[in-house]
Parts: sequence; C-alpha cells; structure tokens
Amino acid sequence: AQVGVAIVGAGPAGLVLGNLLLDRGVDCVVLERRERAAVVGRARAGFLAPGAVETLTRNGLGDGLLERGRTHRTCRFRGEHGEFTLDYSRAGRREAHTVYPQQDLVRDLLSAFVERGGDIRFAAPVREVTRGTVRLHDGGEVRARYVAGCDGHRGVTRAALTARGTRTARWDHGVTWLAVLAAAGPSMPAVGYALHERGFAGHMARTDTVTRYYLQVPRGTDPADWSDDRIWTELATRMRTAEHGPLRTGAVLERAAVDLRCDVLERPGADRLWLAGDAAGLISPSAAKGANLAVVQAATLAPALAAALAHGDSKGLDRYADDCLPRVWRAHEFSHWMSGLLHGPVGHTPEARYGRALQYARLESLRTSRAHQDHFAESYTGI
Ligand code: APR
Repeated sequence: AQVGVAIVGAGPAGLVLGNLLLDRGVDCVVLERRERAAVVGRARAGFLAPGAVETLTRNGLGDGLLERGRTHRTCRFRGEHGEFTLDYSRAGRREAHTVYPQQDLVRDLLSAFVERGGDIRFAAPVREVTRGTVRLHDGGEVRARYVAGCDGHRGVTRAALTARGTRTARWDHGVTWLAVLAAAGPSMPAVGYALHERGFAGHMARTDTVTRYYLQVPRGTDPADWSDDRIWTELATRMRTAEHGPLRTGAVLERAAVDLRCDVLERPGADRLWLAGDAAGLISPSAAKGANLAVVQAATLAPALAAALAHGDSKGLDRYADDCLPRVWRAHEFSHWMSGLLHGPVGHTPEARYGRALQYARLESLRTSRAHQDHFAESYTGI
C-alpha cells in the first residue's frame, strides 16, 4: 500500500505538517527514530514569535500554549556600562513572544495528531529515502507519493537531497554555547543578555521552576568539565551580580555544548522529496528563530503537498522555496547581527579591544535610538 505522505521525524516541523495534512484529508504516516518518551522529554527552545503562535492557533494547535504559555515583552542587556531593559512590545510592530517549552508544544502536537487519527511509529529509524520509498533500519519499508524530510539537521532526507546536487550555503560563527537548564526560578522578568570580556552569558526565563542559561565557552568544551558550582560562579561574574543582585540558583538539570552554526539549502526539495525545519536549514540559536521557522515552513508545505496529491496541482510545491527562503534569510540576517552583538572577542589584544568597543557602540545605539529599537523589535518578533 502507498500513503500520500511519509513524514520522517516527529519534531515541531514533522508534527505540524502531519496535523495540517490530516486536516486536509491527506493520509500520512510519521516515522520517528526515538521512543515516544524521548521525543516528549527533550527540552530545547521555547520562544515562539507571534507568526508561529498565529499559525498554530489558526490550525487548532494552540490551546496548550495559549493556556500555559507566558508572554515576554522585554529583554535586558547588561554590560560594563550598566544595564537597560528594552520593551520591544512597545516598538516596531508592538508584538510580544510566547514562551512555551518546546517539549510541551511537541506533546500537544502529538496528542492532536493521534486525536485526528494520525499514524505515528516510534522507534522506527529511517535508513534511506529513494524516490517514493522510505527504508527503515529494521528492514521494513513505506511507500509514499511524497516524502517529507523533517528529520532535523543531520537527517537522511537532507543527505538524499544534497546527493542529488542541491547546494548548501553555510556559516560557522566560531562560537560555542554551554546550554544549561537549571531547576531555578527566573532572576529577571524575561530574557537577559550579558556582554562580558570573559564571554557572553544569557538568561532565558522559562517557567517558575526552570530557567535556561547560556555561557559562551571555547569550541570543543566538554560539558562534563562544568560542575554546577563552576556554572553558577561564571554566570554570577558575567551577569555582574555584584552590581545587579544575585541569581536564583538550583540544580543543573542539563548541560550541553551547542556550536553556533548555520546553513541553508538552496532548494528545500524536488520531485517527491520536500524538507522542512532543521532538515532544510539550521539557524544559530542567537535569536531563537529555529522552531519558528520550522512551524512556518511546515504550514507552507502542507497545502502545497495536499494540492499536489488531490489534483496534481504542483504550483505550491514549485513555489515552496520562493515562499520560504526570503523569510529564512531575513531570520538568518538578524540572527547573524544578534550573534555579533552578543559575542565580542575574548582577550586583551588591540583587536579584541576594538571588537569589544564596536559591540558596545552597537548596544549604545540600541539603547538610545528609537529607530534602532523599532528595527530590532520588528526583527526579533518577526519571521
Ligand atoms: N528516522 C526517523 N526519525 C529521525 C531520523 C531518522 N533517520 N533522524 C532524525 N529523526 C527525528 C529525530 O529523532 C527528531 O525527533 O527527527 C526529529 C527532528 O526533530 P527536530 O530536531 O526537533 O527538528 P525540527 O522538527 O526541524 O525542529 C527544528 O526545533 O528544537 C528546535 O533547535 C530546533 O529550532 C529547531 C527546531
């Protein structure tokens, strides 16, 4: 038997796509490498822009985030000249973020998919994708009119597409973050970015009991070298707690090293294979755009696949790259700018002093210029 769409991967991209396809009467199956518990247990992003919230809500997938998500309107910057808070909900398009842990969103999307009668197979790693055939590691196979590659950055669907000549644009910021999840309440109302000559530190409020922190660390850092004590001491230094008051501390639940790398596939699909989310392009986490792009791409791909299946109308698929790429590149441009703002050079060479002075000049412009704040707000909340 042949299904309409075989979706590889049950992350935000695959699950949004699956739900939207079911809504349009398309039969689909989701194939996910990991067990269900691992899929709903992995904490990642949590910062949803209004465009993603609107897309989810309009498609009946927003109940959880509307009920339990929190509204974030401000970010705070700290540096050697003190701190300031930018209320971006009063600048630009006057929009705010919804903070909703990604694993909660994934859980909601999974329940919605199952409630709609969707077929999902866990612990079903895909080995290879050729034309309409998806081969599993256990020897099984699924035949589909279309395959949707939602298997993340190192997935097999991206490999299948690039093997056919699709080119990639790529950038490495050369920066690594130690991403920490702490059992501690927030120490600031929302997001805090700290510039420091020892490297960047970030604070992202999540829930009353869990906060995410980031520390810029050398490339190749082993997270195991960072004890709880070392993490809190370094955060206190970089977040300048001597001036601004202590952080609320707690046990470190997770620590992982994340390299700030990005890439974009020139064409996110062809013929019978179409990619969305990290499979189609990876964005560095400096502006928290990744999950948002995944949602928007899946929502663009769903009607295109449905039209192709229902009446052989491939216009949506032909337009898919042109519909997505300008937004993707705009997000990358802002993420790149953010990365430059947050990561100054480390050290005391003349070049390092020059780079840090530029960083502070940028920050000062953001603190004092209304035009700059409007532009920041538009980019920060837009996708
Ligand atoms: N077979 C089946 N499933 C696979 C395979 C495979 N060979 N390879 C990967 N997967 C699954 C992974 O286990 C994962 O559940 O694909 C899923 C990909 O999900 P994500 O990595 O969350 O990617 P995506 O849905 O594109 O969402 C991207 O969410 O977490 C953020 O940082 C991420 O912001 C980015 C966004």
